Amino acid sequence: MAARLPINYNKKPCYDIVYADNFRELILEFEDLEIESRNICIVTDSNVEALYATEIKSLFENHCRKVVIFSFPAGEQHKTLNTVKDAYTFLIQQGFTRKDLLVALGGGVVGDLTGYTAATYLRGIDFIQIPTTLLSQVDSSIGGKTGVDFDQYKNMVGAFYMPKLVYINLSTLKDLEDRQFFSGMGEVMKSALIKDAVFYEWIITNMYEICERNLITLEEMVIKTDQIKKAIVEKDPTEKGERALLNLGHTIGHAIEKAKNFELAHGECVALGCVAAAFISKKHKLLSDDEFYEIRDMFVPFYLPITVDNINPDEIVKLTKSDKKMDAGKIKFILLKKIGKAVIDTTVTEEDMLEAVKELYYNEVDMTE
Ligand code: GLY
Repeated sequence: MAARLPINYNKKPCYDIVYADNFRELILEFEDLEIESRNICIVTDSNVEALYATEIKSLFENHCRKVVIFSFPAGEQHKTLNTVKDAYTFLIQQGFTRKDLLVALGGGVVGDLTGYTAATYLRGIDFIQIPTTLLSQVDSSIGGKTGVDFDQYKNMVGAFYMPKLVYINLSTLKDLEDRQFFSGMGEVMKSALIKDAVFYEWIITNMYEICERNLITLEEMVIKTDQIKKAIVEKDPTEKGERALLNLGHTIGHAIEKAKNFELAHGECVALGCVAAAFISKKHKLLSDDEFYEIRDMFVPFYLPITVDNINPDEIVKLTKSDKKMDAGKIKFILLKKIGKAVIDTTVTEEDMLEAVKELYYNEVDMTE
């Protein structure tokens, strides 16, 4: 089942995304990673450690100098500089030098935090990504964005730093809790909405197989989503322009995530943010009413929310200002011209956002309408 998607950086081959249905084939990559003389640190969280860390550690053992595990408590609240500091301390105690290697084993939090640790420890050591959630396999492990949250600001401290390899074992998708799996579908739908109407139709046609987690279907879906991301990040690796399209749904999504104190999963907030962005696109006469309702309702079969309760819409709009997506004081908002075509817009007002958030606000809404 192994497939390979090469990613270029500044027009030069940079790293491959390798797709498999097991971890064993990771051994085939060892030669390129030249691990014989290296120390390896597997960075993971408490949930993923229990599932896969022993297997991954035993794959490396006897092939490298030494392999150790650094694990931190699972959860977005640990994606902080404090955890990075603990990682530095561990690496120093273990005698890691610049020629050693970090392995990010887990979801988006683990990947972002490990990447940032790798980018900064001794001014940069190599790392590879082994993403184990749908969200990290289709978005966060690809494209070299690394970082941590700072105070109330999400991903505020970080670096663009490329991994040496992204190894995707699709069978990990079978182990995810439903809510985590469907959260990843928020990012898949987002990518299709941005760039690929044909893929959007494919998702609808294959809805049953996706929900059943048919591995062949999931492989096709993950590769298609990664191809969309590849095309964007290769053209604009450091988000000077087009890469911002990948932030569809994230301005209002991040604000809801913060306001709800991370009670909702990231992909659930992205779905809500996409519905809000589609609403504003309709208001700006880019989308018809029918297109808006179609986009909104397509999140429902994937158990993603299209309404949200217990929020204060004014607070959400206020929180959008602490997001990074500003351009000379103006919010860089991503709107939809149609399914498969997103655009960067700097004319979205606070009023537009407030109206969109109020539309999401589940307050005795008659869902039979
Ligand atoms: N997750 C958005 C990006 O990688 O640019």
